[in-house]
Amino acid sequence: MGLFKLLHGHKARAFEGIPGPEPSFPMGNAGEFLDKTRQPWEVCCDFAHEFGGVTLVWMAGQPALILNDPKLIGEVLESNWTNFYKDAPCKALAPVITGRSLFISNYGKGWNKAHSENPFTTLNQEQFLSQQIKPLQMVIRKDLQHFIDRSASSDIDLYRDMQKLSFHAFSQAFWGQTFGDEVFEWFQSLARTGDRRMQCKIPALLNLPPWRPGFYSARSKWYRMFERLVKESRRKPDHDAPDMLNQALSHGPDLSDAVLAEALATNFFGGVFSGSSTINTALYLLAKHPEERGKLIAALDADLGGTEAYDLETLLGCRQLDFVLREAMRYYPAVPLYLRNSVPEREVKLGDHLLPPNTMIFISNYYLHKFSHHWLQAEKFDPSRWDNGVAEENPFASGYFFPYGRGPRACIGQQYGIFYTKLALATVLLNSTVDLNPAQEFKQHFFFGVMMPKGLKAKFQTRAQCPPSGRSDEIPEPA
Ligand code: HEM
Repeated sequence: MGLFKLLHGHKARAFEGIPGPEPSFPMGNAGEFLDKTRQPWEVCCDFAHEFGGVTLVWMAGQPALILNDPKLIGEVLESNWTNFYKDAPCKALAPVITGRSLFISNYGKGWNKAHSENPFTTLNQEQFLSQQIKPLQMVIRKDLQHFIDRSASSDIDLYRDMQKLSFHAFSQAFWGQTFGDEVFEWFQSLARTGDRRMQCKIPALLNLPPWRPGFYSARSKWYRMFERLVKESRRKPDHDAPDMLNQALSHGPDLSDAVLAEALATNFFGGVFSGSSTINTALYLLAKHPEERGKLIAALDADLGGTEAYDLETLLGCRQLDFVLREAMRYYPAVPLYLRNSVPEREVKLGDHLLPPNTMIFISNYYLHKFSHHWLQAEKFDPSRWDNGVAEENPFASGYFFPYGRGPRACIGQQYGIFYTKLALATVLLNSTVDLNPAQEFKQHFFFGVMMPKGLKAKFQTRAQCPPSGRSDEIPEPA
């Protein structure tokens, strides 16, 4: 501590009064985040228990704040959001998802334009979503049938297989077609490089370009394919096609091929990992709580019916499905950690403190989602807690529940994410019986900024009581 204080003590003055663990030379508290037995959001949660809503830590000689206080988080993400920017993932991800991606652009430096012209902003989302039910059900059922067939001889690896199912569903929703295994491999190759760079412990290494040769070939094939698809659709637009590409070409602003291709390609990185994580988490928690699974299946049968020919309002209105997914996201949020920095040009006020320029900030929802002064029996998985007005008191993006983030930079795909996870979970449970041993460990794994349970295995069987194809026109008329 003595040597550390001697070298960095002058930087600590700006943070006087903020508690935190003792730093040691030379790493400060960075060692806590390198500990392989705990994920970074678990470390943030432990600090909240020990030090409260704001903790000062040292990443080597650099001070950083960990926020677990809804009011301070609201200042950073909402009321004062233009004074904070995304730093850490930008350099890491720029070679993977292109520098102009909404994910890694910043306010005043491309974000405003990327946000305002993104199809999620310009298209009528309700109209878009209501047209996705049938095509996505078909894609999900097809993959589910593969799960069922393969279950006869081996287990399904939920980590990888649910990503693939989600990738197929996203291809359909955004590009109007499903892409084969080769394209999925390009996507995985880009994501692995992005993940390695995001988790790189030596920032200077991010000044170097990615070194894996396979990455460049995957990246060039991935973006070339999307630009070609945009070009082709622009030449022969199908105004009635429900996919986002055709809808954006018909009703959106005039974007260049490269910009539209990039916006639609980013959707895969935005939602495949977080969406599949949420579905797997829900399946796991339901397996652990068979009474809740029974309640949900009964509600799906009653509300969505054996025919599955429901509309958007009916899907979104199924309360038990809504409660289960909210509770799964409260319990294990797929995105439990966000990073921001205060702007480099000036000092910025946060609560009672004046932060030095470029102060690094970690924000976690992991602790607040289980804050025992707010949530009754916070450690219990209990979908019914959302009943009787609790869902309305704790909407998405509120102080103690923000799985999709808060403020202007919250998830642009939130509505689609809610829709997709509901549709996928309902389709899986209405069409199959999932045999997932709840004694399996829920191993939280950090990949591409997302908490993904890894190692979960399951077997799928056709659900006997469901009509074989689930199509209303094949159900015999009552005598
Ligand atoms: C369960 C599914 C999802 C979860 C839990 C989730 C969560 C989040 C969170 C927490 C953020 C904010 C991060 C921050 O403040 O630093 C975010 C941003 C974002 N998400 Fe999602 N997301 C999901 C699905 C999607 C989908 C389906 C898409 C696109 C189709 C998407 C695209 C994006 C984009 C582009 C951003 C950056 C927005 C901006 O910075 O303006 N996400 N997401």
